[in-house]
Amino acid sequence: MHMPVSMLFSDAASDPSPWLEVFGRAHPVLLHSPLGLLPALLLLEFGALLLRKEPPRGAILAVAWLCALSAAAAAASGLVLAGEDGYSGDTVGQHKLLGLTLGGLCVLAAILALLADRRAFRVVLVLACGVMIPAGHLGGNLTHGADFLFKPLAAKTAAPEKPAQPEHPAEPSTAPADTVPTYAAQIVPILERTCTKCHNEDKQKGELLLTTVDGIRAGGDNGPVFVAGKPDESPLVQRCELPLDDDDHMPPEGKPQPTAEELATLRAWIAAGAKFE
Ligand code: HEC
Repeated sequence: MHMPVSMLFSDAASDPSPWLEVFGRAHPVLLHSPLGLLPALLLLEFGALLLRKEPPRGAILAVAWLCALSAAAAAASGLVLAGEDGYSGDTVGQHKLLGLTLGGLCVLAAILALLADRRAFRVVLVLACGVMIPAGHLGGNLTHGADFLFKPLAAKTAAPEKPAQPEHPAEPSTAPADTVPTYAAQIVPILERTCTKCHNEDKQKGELLLTTVDGIRAGGDNGPVFVAGKPDESPLVQRCELPLDDDDHMPPEGKPQPTAEELATLRAWIAAGAKFE
């Protein structure tokens, strides 16, 4: 594919090139290459040792350099992605640090694989595999939410003898017309189920934080997200009620959507003044 080099870089400093943005978004694809190649290297090097054979130098060198190049690409794309609107917080910082360390270790391992003395290569290889685990885990947290991995366990221990899900999952948050939904009991669970995967401390899409009262009060890029008493003028509701294929629809198409009851609850809560007590 031919494209002018100038397209790769932004002409206006504030506006990142769309190609660069695509490169950043390829991060989840790119990172799986070193993720698979590192264990392969470990197996080639130490597997041979276990079998009391000479490690297959040629194969190891080839895989080590493939791993180094793809790790460098993964780290670079990660940096671009992290610069995208909405990523902030400790998890991103730690993931970035571990990811860059991992990229560096992979390159170092490839260089050391050239040496006749295998010891330094082996140490760096084991280190890289050690760093890969927390780096990958934190990356997963950024994508799926911090509680994603252990949530099934937490649900089990919290309510061991709870019967299977009710037939109408939205039932608990249904708001009969005469009771005002409360923030903690009814609104938070809706936001947690459908919104906070993208609007949390680590990933504030649209600069909007929906996990804290202050965040909801502060609103996002375009200002307040609710007008107390006026659900029809509140982006929090308006965006959810846009047609699914509208670019501004929330949550974006393909993500879990609030049910009609949940939307009614959200409406009722804002209509009653959006109180946080
Ligand atoms: C899959 C990720 C994702 C989910 C889930 C999600 N959003 Fe968003 N949201 C975004 C992105 C990206 C933006 C910024 C782009 C835009 O404004 O459309 C945004 C922007 C917004 C804005 C505009 C903020 C501003 O001032 O610019 C509002 C309001 C909003 N979301 C509400 C919600 C609500 C309410 C939910 C849950 C019902 C939700 N979002 C779920 C990704 C998400």
